[in-house]
Amino acid sequence: MILDVDTGVDDACALILACLHPELDLRAVTCVGGNAPLPDVVRNTLTVLEACGHTEIPVAAGASHPLLERPVDARHVHGDDGMADLGWPEPTIGVDARHAIDLLRETIDGAHAEGDPVTLVPLAPMTNIALLARMYPDSFERIGRIVFMGGGAMVSNATAAAEFNVFHDPEATAVVLDASADHDVPVTMYGLDVFYEPRITLADADELAALDERGPGALGAGLMRFMSRHFDSDSATIGDAGAVALLVDPEAVRTERLPVRVELSGTWTRGRTIVDTRDWSGDMDHDPHGLAQAQVDVALEIDGPRIARLWL
Ligand code: BDR
Ligand code: CA
Repeated sequence: MILDVDTGVDDACALILACLHPELDLRAVTCVGGNAPLPDVVRNTLTVLEACGHTEIPVAAGASHPLLERPVDARHVHGDDGMADLGWPEPTIGVDARHAIDLLRETIDGAHAEGDPVTLVPLAPMTNIALLARMYPDSFERIGRIVFMGGGAMVSNATAAAEFNVFHDPEATAVVLDASADHDVPVTMYGLDVFYEPRITLADADELAALDERGPGALGAGLMRFMSRHFDSDSATIGDAGAVALLVDPEAVRTERLPVRVELSGTWTRGRTIVDTRDWSGDMDHDPHGLAQAQVDVALEIDGPRIARLWL
């Protein structure tokens, strides 16, 4: 698998799981501006890999800005450094010299040649993935599957209508859904309908903290305690990590294959994912943007405690 991240407290939780779960083979990590500016995202990502002892996994920097608009970060949620302000030491490992798009292309092509296509897991605004689709459509077609965190059928957060990752770069999400429809790449959407449900309690965090002093236990505990404090709760969601957990335990999540489009032009609804739940859907011919209609496996229900346990 490849993770595309804007680390980010919950991206860090996802990286920890992807690094350490024995059934997952994390081949590369690409970074994009989102929760924090790109340089912070790269540093945070390297910090997590180093804490997990996986310094061999290449980490590359990609797009700092969305395709069209100026970046609007979420440091008011994720902390000034974008990752919970834990005072963690600076990483000693460096970033890969390749641009994220080249690391994506080479990793996807390599896995395809080995006969084991990559599962691509974007947990951030999909700018890098849209650029890949446009620059290297042949490589995009070689992706085995996309499982992305973003959007929601019924729930939103960045605005009354839209989820943060899609709101940050709606055009990129539309390009990726369009390209996946054109190239027959299966897509699963892990959106806000399920995102908040797998939760770690403060008691769980204490158990994690007892595991190590500067490893994934201490880091995971610090992240979860920070988010609990921020939302004045005794628990916190593992967020993006749920999308990674879904790869290990698909039975814990109920998905439905539904048409999904992205609102690109609404005054109050820009960035909303329009999930067509009508019984007779599938005949939406009219599309002002001329995009293909993506059929997406949308996560609608989750066994939150089971996914939280898996992460723990
Ligand atoms: C998404 O936005 C970011 O703040 C999180 O990392 C997650 O990917 C949730 O809307
Ligand atoms: Ca994220």
